[in-house]
Amino acid sequence: MHPLCAASDITEQQSKGFDIDGREVFAVRKNDKLYVYENRCPHRGVPLEWMPDTFLDPDKQFIQCATHGALFTIDAGLCIAGPCNGTSLEPVKFDIIDGQLCIAPR
Ligand code: FES
Repeated sequence: MHPLCAASDITEQQSKGFDIDGREVFAVRKNDKLYVYENRCPHRGVPLEWMPDTFLDPDKQFIQCATHGALFTIDAGLCIAGPCNGTSLEPVKFDIIDGQLCIAPR
């Protein structure tokens, strides 16, 4: 498992991006649950955020791709609007170990 940060660093409705040796992932917390996805839009395969650590739409209800505006549910990574409607972000397996958010290798 690879540590990303303290799990408590990601607060409610906040998101945070990480680059681990070229592998880009991001974490988001909603309803006190953490979710981690590969930072790759299923439409064009590009990173999602428009500014560092900014993966959510203005209302913080969905994950939003900055390139063409696709919206993804936070809890399932399912695209519900935009050019890749019906596709999904790739979830990343993770665990909280001694308070650290850790992801499994690919
Ligand atoms: S690259 Fe993400 S919506 Fe087009």
